[in-house]
Amino acid sequence: MERRILLNPGPATTTDSVKQAQIVPDICPREKEFQNLMKSIRRDLVKIAGGNKNYSAILFAGSGTAVMESTMVSVIPEGKWALIISNGAYGKRFKEIAVANAIPNIEIEIPYGRKINIERIKYVLESDVNFGVVFVTHHETTTGILNPIKEIGELAKKYNCLYVIDTISSFAGIPFSIQKVKADFIMSTSNKCLQGMSGISFVIGKREEIEKCKYNLKSYYLDLYSQYKYLEEKGQMRFTAPVQTMYALRQAIDELFEEGLENRYERYKKNNKILVEGMKERGFRLFLTQDVDHSFILETFYELKGMDFNKFHDKLYEEGFTIYPGKLDNKNTFRLANMGNLKGEDIENFLKAVDKVLDLKKKRFCRLCGALCYGTVCMKCNKKEKTRKLSVQYHSRRWKQKQKEKKNET
Ligand SMILES: Cc1ncc(COP(=O)(O)O)c(C=O)c1O
Repeated sequence: MERRILLNPGPATTTDSVKQAQIVPDICPREKEFQNLMKSIRRDLVKIAGGNKNYSAILFAGSGTAVMESTMVSVIPEGKWALIISNGAYGKRFKEIAVANAIPNIEIEIPYGRKINIERIKYVLESDVNFGVVFVTHHETTTGILNPIKEIGELAKKYNCLYVIDTISSFAGIPFSIQKVKADFIMSTSNKCLQGMSGISFVIGKREEIEKCKYNLKSYYLDLYSQYKYLEEKGQMRFTAPVQTMYALRQAIDELFEEGLENRYERYKKNNKILVEGMKERGFRLFLTQDVDHSFILETFYELKGMDFNKFHDKLYEEGFTIYPGKLDNKNTFRLANMGNLKGEDIENFLKAVDKVLDLKKKRFCRLCGALCYGTVCMKCNKKEKTRKLSVQYHSRRWKQKQKEKKNET
């Protein structure tokens, strides 16, 4: 099968064996055989999350946003408010879902790519608003920042709130334990770091808190409690399950266990290092600063001066690589994710493709160290064009002065 490299943040690049796992004899999803398949998947998802028998995985047919909405409409007790912490578009999505469903909420809005200040959350939780649930995103895929879910969990519990984390783009990519971070609910999908096909999303929650959701019914299709009951008692989804995607997910989970979660994270980190160093060498600058936690799964890069992103994308696509636009207002950026079934050589091949498609006319040689440069920053001496110019001028002036001095001496 033709191998395409997806550097968009999911659906990610999958193995051929995951793709092939979808080719199975036709089966009705109400059959025992399929129920057993879902049972094993639900058990293993809890295991990956670091949960135990007190937790359960609830599967839905739908994308990640479906389970974000399912959780939002199902877990907030009557009369309580949601506290939403956002520093990116996915945190904001919780806010949009709350507004769409008329759920009382307060959003702590932090600029994209900036650290979450724990003291600020504490200050808001101490107010006289009757908060019942805290929502946050683990890996904010808008920028690539990783948020401090453990510290926020401690605060949520201190103020008697339920704690919900969107782990959609970190689950099975970044090791964490649902118990250690004190989360009551987390959510993710089949098509990101799990490296399966798109179409299945899931919530992993504490059983005792799921049980309480039966009093908060606000949606028919996305009702978390009813889906849980149906899966527990009948072993089936309430409505038609994405059959073939489920077989692919089983294979993807087997491949995750084979690789090991820690090893997957190490592979992602190594690939990220090759990617970031290579892009920096080509003059691309990172949007996130060094003082924030990077996910090592996705990075946001500023476009080079005068670069046409769409052309850059299209040419790379022709070479077999898919890149992703940025999500930042007033800033020309794009994103590269290294989740999925990628090896170091895939990233190196991508960098070669970047060399090939970058406009040759824009290449020049650093006037200071002579290295080949693409952007405004030299890939070798790491100096910006302006600094380089000044430096060259300074050195040439010094050189001329020295020549004069020499002449005068003789
Ligand atoms: C952190 C996070 N949350 C939510 C979503 C939304 O998922 P979907 O596009 O599958 O609905 C995404 C998608 O990239 C995401 O990265």
